Amino acid sequence: MDTAKRQIDQLRKELNKHNYNYYVLNQPTISDYDFDMKMKELERLEQAHPEFDDPYSPTHRVGSDISKGFVQWVHKRSMLSLSNTYSISEVEDFIRRVNEGLMGEPFQIVGEMKYDGTSISLTYEHGRLVRAVTRGDGTQGDVVTDNVITIRSIPLQLQGEGWPDEFEIRGEIVLPWNAFDRLNAEREFNEEPLFANPRNAAAGTLKLQNSAEVARRGLDAVFYYLLGDNLPADNHYDNMMAARSWGFKIAPVMSLMTTIKEVDEFIEYWDVKRKELPMATDGLVFKINSLRQQLNLGFTAKSPRWATAYKFQAERALTKLKFVSFEVGRTGVVTPVANLEPVLLSGTIVKRASLHNEDIIRQLDIHEDDMLYVEKGGEIIPKITGVDMAQRQPGSNIVEFVKACPVCGTKLVRMEGEAAWMCPNKFGCAPQISGRIEHFVGRRMMNIDGIGEEMAVILYKNGWVCDPADLYELDRHRESMLKLQGMGPRTIERMLEGIKASKQVPFDRVLYALSIPYLGETSSKKVARSLRNIDAVISADVDTLCAIEDIGPRIAQSIIDYFNNPVNRVIVDRLRNAGLQMAMPESAQSGQGNLFAGKSIVISGTFSMHSRDEYKEMIERYGGKNVGSVSKKTDFILAGENMGPSKLEKAKSLGVQLIDEETFLSMLSNNACTFKIEVQKFR
Ligand code: IVH
Repeated sequence: MDTAKRQIDQLRKELNKHNYNYYVLNQPTISDYDFDMKMKELERLEQAHPEFDDPYSPTHRVGSDISKGFVQWVHKRSMLSLSNTYSISEVEDFIRRVNEGLMGEPFQIVGEMKYDGTSISLTYEHGRLVRAVTRGDGTQGDVVTDNVITIRSIPLQLQGEGWPDEFEIRGEIVLPWNAFDRLNAEREFNEEPLFANPRNAAAGTLKLQNSAEVARRGLDAVFYYLLGDNLPADNHYDNMMAARSWGFKIAPVMSLMTTIKEVDEFIEYWDVKRKELPMATDGLVFKINSLRQQLNLGFTAKSPRWATAYKFQAERALTKLKFVSFEVGRTGVVTPVANLEPVLLSGTIVKRASLHNEDIIRQLDIHEDDMLYVEKGGEIIPKITGVDMAQRQPGSNIVEFVKACPVCGTKLVRMEGEAAWMCPNKFGCAPQISGRIEHFVGRRMMNIDGIGEEMAVILYKNGWVCDPADLYELDRHRESMLKLQGMGPRTIERMLEGIKASKQVPFDRVLYALSIPYLGETSSKKVARSLRNIDAVISADVDTLCAIEDIGPRIAQSIIDYFNNPVNRVIVDRLRNAGLQMAMPESAQSGQGNLFAGKSIVISGTFSMHSRDEYKEMIERYGGKNVGSVSKKTDFILAGENMGPSKLEKAKSLGVQLIDEETFLSMLSNNACTFKIEVQKFR
């Protein structure tokens, strides 16, 4: 076969695999830089050999963030990407090309930061936000208006004057560093997988179905592109300034330049200074300022000729793999960790990096004693992105995943369709036992003061607490605990007080605290609220469990397996006897609780008297169901200020009632349904 064809096929295969790792698995095994280089090489080969063109080549894809569950919207003006480069000389080439394209006419360049989040297009009509759509595949994206409305910096109604009747403004939804750190700290605490970088966190958050959770996470947005007829100015810079006066948060760094020297200085300055910005950036963007000149320069199929992006090189280091250790978590999942010769990377010493699972080790093809590339870039968690093959020791062995649990020696099992290997020895494997105790006492579970990770291990190692029920008999060990160095009477008193107080923790959190595999915080709430007490949960079959919102066959089977195990049943009985809450309170079941029985209620907009979460609680406490989207089955919408335009439209077309905050609260206080609902009807 033709060598070029073989190279093209090979590159397409590799790039497709990397796209999958990145977009689907969220576990890239290659640096962005290497990925871009491979893409460029493929583009070059395809250009030289148009006879091998294929519409399915990765060069024809702009990547898609379309997900199920959102309404699709075709962009009125397609969302293109930017050509990008990693070298200053290529930025200079861009400027020279522009110069040629404009046939020597003078031009201004606007330098901006390239914000590292997820792009969004907002449409405004008559000064009001009507729609927020993700980039999707560039032609159509997801309508995420309800989530975008929760971002406080986005104006729903414009201020000032001079905006066109209809326009689009594009920008980046970002999760600022402080919100990102907070979110990851919380996820670490709850043993949920961490987000590798603010970009993934922002994109994941924007696609959540629960806009209250979106609001809680603290997204922000910066805008950098105004599109429409009748824009206020004939240049990009002034248009952005006008947008700023209408209430938009405009990219804070915008510099007007005219010479290559200024561009070089801009790059040099921001390559360093960007680290002080409150949000992640992955490069710089250079745009020609005049809209007329932009029009003259035009577009290629994928990107404008009037703009380019200069990407920062992710900081990368090469270091030796000392060994791979295998660590066992609370759920028994075994995680491989690369232990490295310490290396300085972006200001911190890196000694360890997770390799996630066996598949990743295979894809990276890691051998013993290999020299590994570690990268941080915008990432907080260091990741291994490759092996320096030139330095591989001849005859070195491939790193094998352990077959048995490194702690207790039990043979590992791998569930069908899952990447993780698990130790099945739930009740005899130390990190699983102490991990479950640690989870049980955690803040979002039983919230027991005075017991953290270290204390959980101490209590377990001394044989005082081997399962959560032992905590409620801890008093018996007071004397022996006092003998342990560092355990003063105050420490012990604080723990015992915390344990006592936890008996008031509601049933849904007790259920979550049990560490039933796959049963997370939200699904525990759903099960508890639906089945009401522990006996109903114990006796529920798959069908009953699957009938509960958000509970699928995997969680259902896991709940059944958990309660089929006699050891767990004894623990639960002992917890019940200790006085823990094993049922939802009466008030949540009947009496006042019937007000919204069987009703489907949507919450939309912003509220002044209570938070969305509080309204959700109220609906559920009174027997109703809070649902995310408006349908024929919706009984009414609890409508706050600035309700999502798509929901409003849908409510209108289906004739669903809107009830405002005050009316809703008066319904609750009148309770016995003697109130008259003030409704706005649309039909
Ligand atoms: S301008 C027609 N300006 O980078 C191009 N994009 O690869 C309009 N981005 O999809 C985009 N910061 O998500 C522009 N200051 C900036 C940007 C920026 C980040 C993102 C944006 C776009 C991608 C292009």
